[in-house]
Parts: sequence; C-alpha cells; structure tokens
Amino acid sequence: MESFSHMYPWQILSRMSGVNLTHRLHKDRTFDVAKLQAEVTQVIANFNPAGHSSSDAYHDGGWSTIGLVTHKGDPFEDRPLGSPYEKTPAIELAPYMESIIDSFETDKKRVRLMELQPQKSIFWHYDKGETIDSGKTARIHIPIFTNEKVQVQLSHEDVVWKAGEVWYGDFAFPHRLYNAGTASRVHLVIDVAINDFVLSLFSPDFLAAKDRRIRVRRPCQRLAVAYQIARNPSQWSKFLPAAPTPSAARQ
Ligand SMILES: [Fe+2]
Repeated sequence: MESFSHMYPWQILSRMSGVNLTHRLHKDRTFDVAKLQAEVTQVIANFNPAGHSSSDAYHDGGWSTIGLVTHKGDPFEDRPLGSPYEKTPAIELAPYMESIIDSFETDKKRVRLMELQPQKSIFWHYDKGETIDSGKTARIHIPIFTNEKVQVQLSHEDVVWKAGEVWYGDFAFPHRLYNAGTASRVHLVIDVAINDFVLSLFSPDFLAAKDRRIRVRRPCQRLAVAYQIARNPSQWSKFLPAAPTPSAARQ
C-alpha cells in the first residue's frame, strides 16, 4: 500500500509551526466496540445513507452519512442548516450511542454516522470553523468500524484512531482520507457547541496552543485551495470554502 506523503506545502508549514491538531479525549475510557458496531449495523440496515452534502470535488463517491441529530430531525439531512437540531428516528435504534451523545453536557449540532467505503477517498479539503479555537463548534470522533489500512492525514499529522476511542480533530486544517481496506470505515461524529464542559475535556497545553494554530491555520487553508485550483483550474469554484450545496442527494 502506498502511504500518504508529507510533502504538501501546508503540511510542511503546520509541522514547522509545531502545532498539534488532534487530541484524545476521555483518555481513560474506551467505549464498548461490539455494542457500537451492533447498533451501527442496525441503523444502516434500516436507513439508507444519504450522500454527503459537500462538493463532489472532495470525494470519489464512497462518502455518506446517516443523521442521529440533524436540522429538524431528518436522518437524511446532512447540511449544517442551524437550529433546531433534533434527534432523528435513527437514534431510536441506537440507545447506547444515544447515551454517549447525551453524556456530552452541551448542545449538539449535527451528530452523524459517517461512512467511507473501501477503496474510496476524501481529497484534501478543510471545514471552515470546525475548530475548538472558534469558540463555537468542535468535532468529536468515535471510530466504530475501522481497519489498519485506513489512512488519514490532518495536515502534517498521520491520524491513527482506534475503535471505541474518543478524539477531537481540528478539521479547519486541510485533511484527507483513503480507505485502502476491504470494509467500510464508520465513525460517530458529534459536533458539539463549545462550553466549559467541552473545554474541560482538553488539556490546558492543547488549549494554550490556540494562538499558534490561529497564526498558521489560514495560510494552510490558502495553500490547500491554491493547490486544488492549480490542479483543476476549470473547477476552481468548487474548491473555495462554501456553504453546503443545496442537494444532499439521497441514495
Ligand atoms: Fe472534512
């Protein structure tokens, strides 16, 4: 398997700045993977995943979601449309995941099961505002189905997260994924409103590096956009950080 390289300019920049972009939360805790996997299997069997709402310039067709908490409680609504965020019927099949979601003592925004099929990729992109440093929203991942051939890079960091662990990633930095395995990768992805409870999950050192991340984040984003436009000049508008597309096509 060919490994991801580390030579993209934004990777070099973020590495040189010395910032950390991922942080394991609840380090003393691993959730019950068998229970999580059984519930995901149930949910997927009963709800056909919706196509991801982001531009198709960013993936090759194997990227889909099922909403557990979404705008107005529609399990197939993947877009960040704002309040009201409500639990969907899919969460009724997942009481263990619901208890985990509820244990984060803050308002939830989108909470989704996100699937990347085998041999599929999500290309370099960044998610505007998805950073603890925004003071608004943080994105928490709990891997449920994963495999050792999944490759993930969050700028310069090679991300290796195990099933049942709880992780934060600063997805406002450029990131990419490739599932080189033979089975789907499925994560529970919880977007939470940042409050004192959420901040308490982070180490003081990680939070204290906020200013360094802020200094380097925008240059990294611009480098990644410039690179994508240079590679695909006819599709330049797709690579600008934009509002979600209006058609979360159901599949
Ligand atoms: Fe992303």
